[in-house]
Amino acid sequence: MTQPVLSLRNLQVEFKTRRERLRAIDGISFDIAKGEVLGVVGESGAGKSVTGSAVVGLIDPPGRIAGGEIHLSGLRIDNLPPEEMRKIRGKRIGMIFQDPLTSLNPLYRIGDQIVETIRTHIGMSEQAARKRAIDLLAEVGIPAPEKRIDGYPHEFSGGMRQRVVIALAICAEPELIIADEPTTALDVSVQAQIIALIKRLGRDHGTAVMLVTHDMGVIAETCDRVAVMYSGRIAEIGPVQDVIRNPLHPYAKGLMGAIPTLTGEDLRLVQIPGSMPRLSAIPPGCPFNPRCAFAFERCRVERPEPIQRGAQAVACHLYDSSLKESAA
Ligand SMILES: Nc1ncnc2c1ncn2[C@@H]1O[C@H](COP(=O)(O)OP(=O)(O)OP(=O)(O)O)[C@@H](O)[C@H]1O
Ligand SMILES: [Mg+2]
Repeated sequence: MTQPVLSLRNLQVEFKTRRERLRAIDGISFDIAKGEVLGVVGESGAGKSVTGSAVVGLIDPPGRIAGGEIHLSGLRIDNLPPEEMRKIRGKRIGMIFQDPLTSLNPLYRIGDQIVETIRTHIGMSEQAARKRAIDLLAEVGIPAPEKRIDGYPHEFSGGMRQRVVIALAICAEPELIIADEPTTALDVSVQAQIIALIKRLGRDHGTAVMLVTHDMGVIAETCDRVAVMYSGRIAEIGPVQDVIRNPLHPYAKGLMGAIPTLTGEDLRLVQIPGSMPRLSAIPPGCPFNPRCAFAFERCRVERPEPIQRGAQAVACHLYDSSLKESAA
């Protein structure tokens, strides 16, 4: 088996407040292979962004990685000095966020930012870097790139700006891209184009992509695999078609809007009653148990570990075939 580009092992992230220690990420593990797009879904507060921030070394105090390991193509990166991590960001890991303006300096021409990033990370002459920047702008679909390269961020539409950010994210040919809600702020018609572009990165450059989004439609169109997060854990992970057509975890079933009824037919538009617990009030056992229609005693006391079911892994006691509970 080839080495994954990104590998998370039992990652834990904590935020320390005066009164307590809140665990935002509680033991998540996954791999992303070369050229693979992993989608990460889950409702607000599930820990999607914190996971991405942990990977790029941008968890700010009082937050910290409290346990586990992160490997980038075999190199352990969760414990690197900040200076080393800064070199990896931009060079080996590209980042795309929801608001393109967080990545673009309003005072610089976009070309200058791309050229500077290229030259910081790759030894290239000014002229060669400018040529490369124009090629990149063309690749991400900016019309007349040789003219637009001298424009300022405010001269671009939202969608075009996000294309510039993508050019910036890929300019040093990173192995991995972390894209956190990259299309949320964009018009629906533009979203599809940006998604197509991100998808192409994996195909044409072999880039591994972690794509965070609320949008199952985006996931279905873009991703090879999907991880469903709940309360800082992975409820289910597997090939995107399997998880969409046949979600195993009760929470994933709810998210996909289809819970099979006793007669075997799909009941669409199922709302899961209740809401995700706050970090300070995550119940013992399975964090989903208070909302779960199938919860039984064990779910309230014992944390479910991932169980492999075909290509899917599901953290749910319902799938434990080795059930050998002594009759109480
Ligand atoms: N700096 C911080 N200090 C304290 N808690 C934080 C901090 N950043 C995030 N959290 C908490 O960590 C948990 C996970 O947050 P995260 O931003 O990863 O959620 P998310 O899945 O990205 O949600 P959304 O879909 O709204 O972007 C939340 O409970 C959040 O309140
Ligand atoms: Mg987020």
